[in-house]
Amino acid sequence: MKFQLLIVIIGIYHTTAEYYKTKPDFVKTCTRSDPEFEECSRTAVQQLFSALGPGRPEIGMQPLDPLKIPKIRILQGEGPVNVNAALDDVTVTGFGKTEVLVSQVDSKTYNFYTKVRVPKIRIEGTYDLKGKILLIPLVGHGTCWFEPTNMTIDIFSDVKLYDKDGLIFFNVTAARVKYAIGGLKLRMNNLFDGINSLEDSTNSYLNANWRPVSESLRPILSKTIEDILLGFLQQLFHNLPGNFMISDVKHHTSKKGDKTL
Ligand SMILES: *[C@@H]1O[C@H](CO)[C@@H](O)[C@H](O)[C@H]1NC(C)=O
Ligand SMILES: *[C@@H]1O[C@H](CO)[C@@H](O)[C@H](O)[C@H]1NC(C)=O
Repeated sequence: MKFQLLIVIIGIYHTTAEYYKTKPDFVKTCTRSDPEFEECSRTAVQQLFSALGPGRPEIGMQPLDPLKIPKIRILQGEGPVNVNAALDDVTVTGFGKTEVLVSQVDSKTYNFYTKVRVPKIRIEGTYDLKGKILLIPLVGHGTCWFEPTNMTIDIFSDVKLYDKDGLIFFNVTAARVKYAIGGLKLRMNNLFDGINSLEDSTNSYLNANWRPVSESLRPILSKTIEDILLGFLQQLFHNLPGNFMISDVKHHTSKKGDKTL
């Protein structure tokens, strides 16, 4: 059975910018043919995260920590999770402490595989919810927060290379994630329009059952992370020439016989 899931994220990356013409200091260059490439690349991506924490307005990158998302709209039809929700004025803190565990780049396709760990993330915002999670009907609107801890994320990014002004750029065409979390705390204020006893008991129930709750929300969370990440990676790599990251990057412009992983 296939459940329809629609997620719309509004207003993060819309600025146009001039790409970096010279290599910025925070970029560490690695060589693909170097046997130590993987370790070099891990350090380079770690440095990128640190530099992107406060944002890079010159290339239209807004801060990563705190990350502000004006609106997330979630529509999921039938199924065990049935959610019609909007999250507004969302602030996500914690990505500044991202630890890069693995960074691999395929030597032919240049697709990226990145594994990161974020010790603690806090998501705050205003919610408007009508739906069912773990068979419990939930209705309400108010402020809310979610706190996943020890999140590890496997990120698979597909890239296509393109040339511009004699430089090679990565066009990130897709991002898929697999994640695991070690814990989840949450609070939704004004559930059931403020019928206090019901609001408190439901919040306690959701926290006590955080694992099945997070499992049921997995498709929604994965898709939301993927959409945000894709926008982020596209904005970054359209503005950061690939040659600055990988000195011996080569663009084989063969049209036929291209093999993907
Ligand atoms: C975090 O999760 C990973 C794997 O999911 C686990 O190996 C590690 O021990 C956890 N760390 C902490 C501090 O809980
Ligand atoms: C990036 O890839 C997408 C999808 O294949 C394509 O539509 C777009 O034109 C590409 N952008 C550049 C700058 O090559």
